Amino acid sequence: MLSIALDGPVGAGKTTIARELAKRLNFLYVDTGALYRSIGKYIVDQGGDPSSPEDVIPRLHDISIQLRYNNQNQQRVFLNNADVSDEIRTPEISMAASQVGAIPEVREFLISLQREIAEKNNVVMDGRDIGTTILPNASFKIFLTASVEERAERRYQELREKGDGSTYEQVLNDLKKRDYNDSHRAVSPLSQAADAVLVDTTGLSLEDSIDKLEDLAQEAIFHREEH
Ligand code: DC
Repeated sequence: MLSIALDGPVGAGKTTIARELAKRLNFLYVDTGALYRSIGKYIVDQGGDPSSPEDVIPRLHDISIQLRYNNQNQQRVFLNNADVSDEIRTPEISMAASQVGAIPEVREFLISLQREIAEKNNVVMDGRDIGTTILPNASFKIFLTASVEERAERRYQELREKGDGSTYEQVLNDLKKRDYNDSHRAVSPLSQAADAVLVDTTGLSLEDSIDKLEDLAQEAIFHREEH
Protein backbone atom coordinates (compact mmCIF):
# COMPACT_ATOMS: atom_id res chain seq x y z
CA MET A 1 0.00 0.00 0.00
CA LEU A 2 1.07 3.59 -0.61
CA SER A 3 0.98 6.26 2.07
CA ILE A 4 1.58 9.97 2.30
CA ALA A 5 2.30 11.33 5.78
CA LEU A 6 1.37 14.97 6.16
CA ASP A 7 2.38 16.58 9.45
CA GLY A 8 2.52 20.14 10.65
CA PRO A 9 1.26 22.69 13.17
CA VAL A 10 -2.26 24.06 13.61
CA GLY A 11 -3.58 26.01 10.65
CA ALA A 12 -0.88 25.09 8.13
CA GLY A 13 -3.70 23.98 5.83
CA LYS A 14 -3.15 20.26 6.38
CA THR A 15 -6.79 19.17 6.41
CA THR A 16 -7.94 20.99 3.28
CA ILE A 17 -4.78 20.17 1.39
CA ALA A 18 -4.67 16.52 2.46
CA ARG A 19 -8.32 15.98 1.59
CA GLU A 20 -7.90 17.44 -1.90
CA LEU A 21 -4.60 15.67 -2.50
CA ALA A 22 -6.24 12.36 -1.56
CA LYS A 23 -9.08 13.03 -3.99
CA ARG A 24 -6.68 13.78 -6.84
CA LEU A 25 -4.61 10.65 -6.20
CA ASN A 26 -7.67 8.50 -5.42
CA PHE A 27 -6.28 7.70 -1.97
CA LEU A 28 -8.22 7.61 1.30
CA TYR A 29 -7.90 10.74 3.43
CA VAL A 30 -7.35 10.04 7.13
CA ASP A 31 -7.70 12.95 9.55
CA THR A 32 -6.03 11.67 12.74
CA GLY A 33 -6.78 14.88 14.67
CA ALA A 34 -10.42 13.71 14.75
CA LEU A 35 -9.34 10.74 16.91
CA TYR A 36 -7.69 12.95 19.55
CA ARG A 37 -10.64 15.34 19.36
CA SER A 38 -13.08 12.48 20.01
CA ILE A 39 -11.20 11.45 23.14
CA GLY A 40 -11.05 15.10 24.23
CA LYS A 41 -14.80 15.40 23.75
CA TYR A 42 -15.54 12.25 25.71
CA ILE A 43 -13.50 13.48 28.68
CA VAL A 44 -15.07 16.96 28.59
CA ASP A 45 -18.59 15.45 28.33
CA GLN A 46 -17.85 13.31 31.38
CA GLY A 47 -16.82 16.39 33.35
CA GLY A 48 -13.16 15.30 33.38
CA ASP A 49 -10.03 17.41 32.95
CA PRO A 50 -8.41 16.54 29.57
CA SER A 51 -4.98 17.55 30.85
CA SER A 52 -5.13 15.15 33.82
CA PRO A 53 -3.81 11.60 33.20
CA GLU A 54 -5.80 10.44 36.28
CA ASP A 55 -9.02 11.66 34.68
CA VAL A 56 -8.22 10.40 31.18
CA ILE A 57 -6.43 7.03 31.41
CA PRO A 58 -9.09 5.05 33.37
CA ARG A 59 -11.76 6.28 30.93
CA LEU A 60 -9.98 4.98 27.81
CA HIS A 61 -11.56 1.55 28.44
CA ASP A 62 -14.98 3.10 27.93
CA ILE A 63 -14.09 4.65 24.59
CA SER A 64 -14.55 3.06 21.21
CA ILE A 65 -13.62 5.10 18.14
CA GLN A 66 -14.25 4.16 14.55
CA LEU A 67 -13.55 5.91 11.30
CA ARG A 68 -16.16 5.26 8.63
CA TYR A 69 -16.35 6.56 5.09
CA ASN A 70 -19.53 7.58 3.28
CA ASN A 71 -20.06 7.00 -0.43
CA GLN A 72 -18.21 10.22 -1.28
CA ASN A 73 -15.23 8.85 0.61
CA GLN A 74 -15.68 11.46 3.33
CA GLN A 75 -14.42 10.50 6.74
CA ARG A 76 -16.88 10.42 9.65
CA VAL A 77 -15.73 9.70 13.16
CA PHE A 78 -17.87 7.67 15.57
CA LEU A 79 -17.41 7.89 19.31
CA ASN A 80 -19.17 4.96 21.00
CA ASN A 81 -21.29 4.59 17.87
CA ALA A 82 -22.42 8.23 17.71
CA ASP A 83 -21.27 10.39 14.80
CA VAL A 84 -19.37 13.29 16.46
CA SER A 85 -17.64 14.57 13.29
CA ASP A 86 -19.16 18.04 13.50
CA GLU A 87 -19.30 18.52 17.28
CA ILE A 88 -15.54 18.04 17.70
CA ARG A 89 -14.68 21.21 15.72
CA THR A 90 -14.99 23.76 18.54
CA PRO A 91 -12.12 25.74 20.14
CA GLU A 92 -12.81 23.97 23.48
CA ILE A 93 -12.43 20.52 21.93
CA SER A 94 -9.36 21.62 19.93
CA MET A 95 -7.62 22.47 23.17
CA ALA A 96 -8.86 19.29 24.87
CA ALA A 97 -7.49 17.24 21.94
CA SER A 98 -4.09 18.85 22.29
CA GLN A 99 -4.13 18.12 26.05
CA VAL A 100 -5.13 14.46 25.81
CA GLY A 101 -2.59 14.07 23.00
CA ALA A 102 0.20 14.79 25.49
CA ILE A 103 -0.69 11.66 27.50
CA PRO A 104 1.40 8.68 26.29
CA GLU A 105 -1.38 6.13 27.00
CA VAL A 106 -3.72 8.05 24.71
CA ARG A 107 -1.21 7.97 21.85
CA GLU A 108 -0.63 4.25 22.43
CA PHE A 109 -4.39 3.65 22.42
CA LEU A 110 -4.69 5.21 18.94
CA ILE A 111 -1.65 3.69 17.20
CA SER A 112 -3.19 0.44 15.96
CA LEU A 113 -6.32 2.12 14.62
CA GLN A 114 -4.20 4.45 12.49
CA ARG A 115 -1.82 1.74 11.28
CA GLU A 116 -4.61 -0.69 10.38
CA ILE A 117 -6.20 1.84 8.03
CA ALA A 118 -2.87 2.42 6.28
CA GLU A 119 -2.30 -1.33 5.93
CA LYS A 120 -5.57 -1.77 4.05
CA ASN A 121 -5.73 1.41 1.96
CA ASN A 122 -3.61 3.88 0.04
CA VAL A 123 -3.78 6.88 2.35
CA VAL A 124 -3.01 10.53 2.80
CA MET A 125 -2.82 10.72 6.59
CA ASP A 126 -2.62 14.06 8.37
CA GLY A 127 -1.52 14.68 11.94
CA ARG A 128 1.49 15.56 14.07
CA ASP A 129 3.50 12.33 14.33
CA ILE A 130 2.54 10.40 11.21
CA GLY A 131 5.95 10.58 9.51
CA THR A 132 7.92 10.14 12.74
CA THR A 133 5.91 7.49 14.62
CA ILE A 134 2.76 6.12 13.01
CA LEU A 135 4.04 5.46 9.49
CA PRO A 136 7.84 5.71 9.66
CA ASN A 137 8.02 3.89 6.30
CA ALA A 138 5.49 6.11 4.52
CA SER A 139 5.98 6.33 0.75
CA PHE A 140 6.29 10.11 0.99
CA LYS A 141 6.45 12.51 3.93
CA ILE A 142 5.56 16.18 3.95
CA PHE A 143 5.98 18.68 6.77
CA LEU A 144 3.65 21.57 6.09
CA THR A 145 4.03 24.92 7.78
CA ALA A 146 3.29 28.65 7.44
CA SER A 147 3.98 31.75 9.54
CA VAL A 148 2.13 31.86 12.87
CA GLU A 149 0.25 35.05 11.90
CA GLU A 150 -0.96 33.57 8.63
CA ARG A 151 -2.02 30.35 10.32
CA ALA A 152 -3.98 32.32 12.95
CA GLU A 153 -5.62 34.44 10.26
CA ARG A 154 -6.75 31.32 8.34
CA ARG A 155 -8.13 29.67 11.47
CA TYR A 156 -9.85 32.93 12.50
CA GLN A 157 -11.63 33.19 9.12
CA GLU A 158 -12.63 29.52 9.30
CA LEU A 159 -14.18 29.94 12.77
CA ARG A 160 -15.93 33.17 11.73
CA GLU A 161 -17.56 31.40 8.79
CA LYS A 162 -18.92 28.86 11.26
CA GLY A 163 -20.37 31.66 13.40
CA ASP A 164 -17.83 31.32 16.23
CA GLY A 165 -17.31 34.65 18.03
CA SER A 166 -13.59 34.25 18.91
CA THR A 167 -11.39 37.31 18.26
CA TYR A 168 -8.19 37.17 16.21
CA GLU A 169 -6.17 37.62 19.43
CA GLN A 170 -7.90 34.67 21.08
CA VAL A 171 -7.32 32.49 18.02
CA LEU A 172 -3.65 33.51 17.89
CA ASN A 173 -3.18 32.78 21.60
CA ASP A 174 -4.93 29.39 21.38
CA LEU A 175 -2.85 28.48 18.39
CA LYS A 176 0.42 29.39 20.13
CA LYS A 177 -0.64 27.40 23.20
CA ARG A 178 -1.53 24.34 21.11
CA ASP A 179 1.69 24.62 19.07
CA TYR A 180 3.63 24.72 22.32
CA ASN A 181 1.76 21.70 23.80
CA ASP A 182 2.05 19.70 20.59
CA SER A 183 5.79 20.35 20.15
CA HIS A 184 6.88 19.99 23.76
CA ARG A 185 5.15 16.81 24.91
CA ALA A 186 7.45 13.96 25.91
CA VAL A 187 6.06 11.33 23.55
CA SER A 188 5.89 11.79 19.75
CA PRO A 189 6.01 15.58 19.74
CA LEU A 190 5.25 17.48 16.57
CA SER A 191 8.50 17.44 14.64
CA GLN A 192 9.68 17.12 11.09
CA ALA A 193 10.82 13.60 10.19
CA ALA A 194 14.40 13.58 8.89
CA ASP A 195 13.20 12.35 5.50
CA ALA A 196 10.19 14.69 5.19
CA VAL A 197 10.01 17.47 2.61
CA LEU A 198 9.38 20.87 4.21
CA VAL A 199 6.72 22.96 2.45
CA ASP A 200 6.04 26.51 3.67
CA THR A 201 2.64 27.74 2.46
CA THR A 202 3.03 31.35 3.71
CA GLY A 203 1.76 33.57 0.91
CA LEU A 204 0.67 30.60 -1.22
CA SER A 205 -2.99 30.20 -2.17
CA LEU A 206 -4.68 26.94 -1.29
CA GLU A 207 -4.83 25.96 -4.95
CA ASP A 208 -1.10 26.62 -5.43
CA SER A 209 -0.26 24.68 -2.25
CA ILE A 210 -2.26 21.66 -3.44
CA ASP A 211 -0.68 21.80 -6.93
CA LYS A 212 2.76 21.95 -5.37
CA LEU A 213 2.15 18.97 -3.09
CA GLU A 214 0.58 16.96 -5.87
CA ASP A 215 3.65 17.53 -8.06
CA LEU A 216 5.96 16.55 -5.21
CA ALA A 217 3.92 13.44 -4.38
CA GLN A 218 3.64 12.32 -7.99
CA GLU A 219 7.36 12.76 -8.45
CA ALA A 220 8.27 11.00 -5.20
CA ILE A 221 5.85 8.08 -5.42
CA PHE A 222 5.05 7.34 -9.02
CA HIS A 223 8.28 8.30 -10.80
CA ARG A 224 10.20 6.36 -8.25
CA GLU A 225 8.05 3.31 -9.01
CA GLU A 226 8.52 3.62 -12.79
CA HIS A 227 12.32 3.63 -12.73
O1 DC B 1 -5.13 18.39 13.48
P1 DC B 1 -6.11 18.87 14.56
O2 DC B 1 -6.08 20.35 14.80
O3 DC B 1 -7.51 18.37 14.33
O4 DC B 1 -5.60 18.15 15.90
C1 DC B 1 -6.16 18.45 17.17
C2 DC B 1 -5.15 18.15 18.26
O5 DC B 1 -4.95 16.74 18.36
C3 DC B 1 -3.76 18.74 18.05
O6 DC B 1 -3.62 20.02 18.63
C4 DC B 1 -2.84 17.73 18.70
C5 DC B 1 -3.60 16.43 18.63
N1 DC B 1 -3.07 15.53 17.59
C6 DC B 1 -1.97 14.78 17.90
O7 DC B 1 -1.44 14.91 19.01
N2 DC B 1 -1.46 13.89 16.99
C7 DC B 1 -2.04 13.75 15.78
N3 DC B 1 -1.54 12.85 14.91
C8 DC B 1 -3.15 14.55 15.43
C9 DC B 1 -3.64 15.45 16.37
